[in-house]
Amino acid sequence: MSLTVSQISKTFGASIAVDNISFTIQTGEVVGFLGPNGAGKSTTMKMIVGFLQADKGTIALNGISYEQDAVKYKKMIGYLPESNALYEDMYVKEYLSFIAAGHEIKNPTNRIQEVIEQTGLGLMQTKKINQLSKGYKQRVGMAAAIIHSPILLILDEPTAGLDPNQLTEIRALIKSLSANAMILFSTHILQEVTAICDRVLVLNKGKLVANDGIAALAQKHEAGLEEIFKMLTH
Ligand SMILES: Nc1ncnc2c1ncn2[C@@H]1O[C@H](COP(=O)(O)OP(=O)(O)O)[C@@H](O)[C@H]1O
Ligand SMILES: [Mg+2]
Repeated sequence: MSLTVSQISKTFGASIAVDNISFTIQTGEVVGFLGPNGAGKSTTMKMIVGFLQADKGTIALNGISYEQDAVKYKKMIGYLPESNALYEDMYVKEYLSFIAAGHEIKNPTNRIQEVIEQTGLGLMQTKKINQLSKGYKQRVGMAAAIIHSPILLILDEPTAGLDPNQLTEIRALIKSLSANAMILFSTHILQEVTAICDRVLVLNKGKLVANDGIAALAQKHEAGLEEIFKMLTH
């Protein structure tokens, strides 16, 4: 399984948000997507998911593009947007049933229990979403993103705004999900990437300025990782 992003660009008015970037992701890989605010991370993710159309370039997931077969393509992807918009008046289980129905999942009761366990939502399953902490809301978003067993997970800043305990838990969850999926997740935290990623993509002003394994990145430059990151994003 693989995701192939090839020379994609996106312009909004006169400004170039994503500038001719290419990369691939293979099965089992956890890839961190780093870069300052406005670098083009979310725009890239939206193009991969199919929410935005690239002006130029191609994106293929297992050889299939969104344009070729939108339904088949979308079924392979789980997406946690930056805002993690949830229906907060719904109960956790009710919300997951609603999402499962949207995916036409067969035997939804079993699958809902599975994702509840996988995301550690057991004690929260009968609570209303608006009663949950930010960390648990992220888990609900994550459960909704994986319910249809996607082979590619796109997570846009899944750990932003979490306290240190929640952060550790969500990182562990991301790592555990990588057994069955390719994962691309954006973050501002370099340590997070070194903790759970196999590889890092660094975007700056729409351009891909690094695509390397953590060790290779550190070796290529002689400075420490923090210094490298600063260099790449200035
Ligand atoms: N819908 C939009 N309309 C106009 N400009 C946009 C839109 N979405 C993103 N941008 C611009 O594109 C650039 C990249 O944004 P974004 O992809 O959100 O970056 P990041 O996620 O790395 O912070 C920014 O300059 C942003 O203002
Ligand atoms: Mg963003």
